[in-house]
Amino acid sequence: MKVHGKPTRTIWPVGGARAVEIIDQTALPHAYRVVRLSSLDDTVRAICSMQVRGAPLIGVTAAYGLALALARSADDALLQDAVRALAATRPTAVNLHWALLRMQACLRPLPPSARADAAWHEAGRIAEEDAEQCRRIGENGLQVLLAAARDRSRLDLMTHCNAGWLATVDHGTALAPVYAAVDQGIGVHVWVSETRPRNQGLLTAWELRQHGVPHTLIADNAAGLLLARGGIDAVLVGADRMAANGDVANKIGTYLKALAARAAAIPFYVAAPRSTIDFACPNGAAIPIEERAADELRLVYGRDASSVAAQLRQLPADEAVANPAFDVTPASLVSALITERGSCAASTAGLRSLYPEEEYD
Ligand code: MRU
Repeated sequence: MKVHGKPTRTIWPVGGARAVEIIDQTALPHAYRVVRLSSLDDTVRAICSMQVRGAPLIGVTAAYGLALALARSADDALLQDAVRALAATRPTAVNLHWALLRMQACLRPLPPSARADAAWHEAGRIAEEDAEQCRRIGENGLQVLLAAARDRSRLDLMTHCNAGWLATVDHGTALAPVYAAVDQGIGVHVWVSETRPRNQGLLTAWELRQHGVPHTLIADNAAGLLLARGGIDAVLVGADRMAANGDVANKIGTYLKALAARAAAIPFYVAAPRSTIDFACPNGAAIPIEERAADELRLVYGRDASSVAAQLRQLPADEAVANPAFDVTPASLVSALITERGSCAASTAGLRSLYPEEEYD
């Protein structure tokens, strides 16, 4: 996608160096900052602090993190330690574990001397595949949206969190059909939820603004009223983990939108690539939900009147806070899943129709 008109991805290898650069998403939307990752520690820090975030991008970054770790030494012990360190960063996005399993399958059979190069190339392949799969999600998703639209020349959509290109290598998942529609000259307007407490909705507004897509930011709690009022063609969100029965984990607040969409008889779609589908996970109850720091609610970040970055305390440091970062939307509330292979019902039979080669319990 484009930043200030320049084609840009969220992560890219640095030419001639064993390093990658990322867009520091903790600085957005106020500042566009590029950060270099040159080691395993840099990568672990970038994932935990959410400089990179979004399930597909977390997976790709972890793959590069493993390659950076092996650049120094690549024996079995180091490989094991690096995998353990990356796997421990965030629990819900299955792309992280999918990428580490794929990297290990590629590396373990190799002699240590061959692992550093192989890891670098495999991480690059995972990144390219992610971009291509998201591009295809855009095409498949647009067909689903147009079929549901009241007026095929204009789409009025609602989303939650950021499942745009900032959450992937390129194109995004939930926002990929939006960009595909715009590229085909179809009018689009997107209702963007702030998505407290980390405000990923501000990232969505930033990237839609970069691409000239009309959008309106709302408080998370305004979604129910807007859906009930009508005039919205569909809700479209991403996922951090899809279970084999079609249950979906995504950013906290997604479940509430699914309930409100159902009550208003508005379609609710979930878009994600194969790397987000956990065929070994029987249902939503088995998905680990990340609990994040209480200060994410006690403190808010922004710019003060002189446009200087500021952190403000809105709650006493000893205020009791719970901060689950994801929730689970049951398959029964999902109108369809949209993947790089097409769309299907949110069910085991649906997933089996698109991924017959996978094992199902
Ligand atoms: O905590 P985050 O910002 O990593 O959560 C991201 C989401 O929940 C996204 O909707 C999901 O990862 C899909 S990204 C294409």
